[in-house]
Amino acid sequence: MADETTPPTQKTTGSGKASEPDLITQCKQRFFTRKTVEQMKAEAAAHPHKLRRTLTAIDVTAIGIGSIIGAGIFVLVGVAAATKAGPAIILSFIVAGIACFFVALCYAELASTIPIAGSAYTFSYASMGELIAWMIGWDLILEYSMGGLAVSIGWSGYIVEGFASAGIHLPTYLTAGPFVEGGFVNLPAVFIVLLLTFILVIGTKESARFNLIIVIIKVSVLVFIIIVGMRYFDGGNLSPFFPYGGLGVFLGAGLIFFAFIGFEAICTTAEEVKNPEKNLPLGIMMSLIICTILYILAATVLVGMVPFYELNVPAPYGTAFRMNDAPWAAGLISLGAIAGITSVLLVSLLAQPRVLFAMSRDGLIPKKIAQVHPRFGTPYIATLTVGIVVAFMAAFLPIEVVAELVNIGTLFAFTLVCLAIPVLRKKDPDLHRPFRTPLVPLVPLLGAGFSIILMLSLPPLTWFRFFLWLGLGFIIYANYGYYKSKLKQEVCQ
Ligand code: ALA
Repeated sequence: MADETTPPTQKTTGSGKASEPDLITQCKQRFFTRKTVEQMKAEAAAHPHKLRRTLTAIDVTAIGIGSIIGAGIFVLVGVAAATKAGPAIILSFIVAGIACFFVALCYAELASTIPIAGSAYTFSYASMGELIAWMIGWDLILEYSMGGLAVSIGWSGYIVEGFASAGIHLPTYLTAGPFVEGGFVNLPAVFIVLLLTFILVIGTKESARFNLIIVIIKVSVLVFIIIVGMRYFDGGNLSPFFPYGGLGVFLGAGLIFFAFIGFEAICTTAEEVKNPEKNLPLGIMMSLIICTILYILAATVLVGMVPFYELNVPAPYGTAFRMNDAPWAAGLISLGAIAGITSVLLVSLLAQPRVLFAMSRDGLIPKKIAQVHPRFGTPYIATLTVGIVVAFMAAFLPIEVVAELVNIGTLFAFTLVCLAIPVLRKKDPDLHRPFRTPLVPLVPLLGAGFSIILMLSLPPLTWFRFFLWLGLGFIIYANYGYYKSKLKQEVCQ
């Protein structure tokens, strides 16, 4: 019988070794050779560097909420209502929420079936083979690093504004990169990235606790907005409801999709979750449902408080309260926004090292990256690498176009994760699936279809940059991962 590390398609001789012609075929087909789920679990268990299981269902749900509620609902909602959908932005939130719901059902099945660090990268390795897995892993690096970058620069902007409203004006050359007039280095962005990196190295549980506090603050601020904002609700502001026509609903959805990104980041912590088969699907679905409800209510209140065309501002809720003679609420809302943005950044800096950790364990990037700190039990080399690179980029790069790159990267991963469900059901029908996506293949196809439609709504330049990134990834794979892959060592030697 084949041992646990034998790839699924490898035929063995009586001695347990693959015969010569089989090996040649295997090596040639290695691009699409999959790892079995058992093989992945065995490798993770046998690996000398293990992450510590400390996270509960509440931690996991809070990590999801921590990474979902951020700049999307506190900032982008205003632009989207003013320029894309009008009051029908409420429907845009419903459309994006439904799309994410289908995708989340697919993530939930895969996370419960393959509870191994790496998220979409790991899922693709099990369903579509090494090459696609590498491309997805490379894509996730783009998603999380660009996400972290955008969010840290946004954080810096809020801090500068906060100081300014207290009468302290920080100099532009120390608070913006060289692409901004008068700017040189964005020190607040560097500061927050390095501070959060430090917390993440100290411990995942500590980071989760820090995240929980932030989540409580920002959810309370959203609830405050909803309850107090209702007092200023005027049905007259909802008319006209479709100032940009029905299409505006979808254009708005394409933009505020950003607000939903984050529920999938939970999957990267799979090896640090207690009872992951139950807690991962629970965390994914709970965090998405809670955020969707809060979003729909908050957006409804917002477009009911002021005419939609007044909302093209960086702090739309603050503006809405000020216009209703309640400026006292603006400071509190800024606090919620800063808290929201901080935890999104924390989770993106937490998620990316775990994808690198999984890729390094598979030999696709240098092995040293997968080292776990002997005392803290965290992937400290990967965390520090990510923190330093993001801090460096945040110091000097501008924020434009970054959100669109994050969206396209995420939607690409979503599409492949949805397609992985029917593929894996066919290839491994007997696999133990603690959570099963309902109505397969309808739900995965709807998830993939919605993701593709939203991708198509993004500008051609974003597509060009995205392909450039994937091309670079392919070159790196062809020159490194292809030769160093652990699967290759097992199959071809
Ligand atoms: N969903 C995250 C945000 O809105 C990315 O900031």
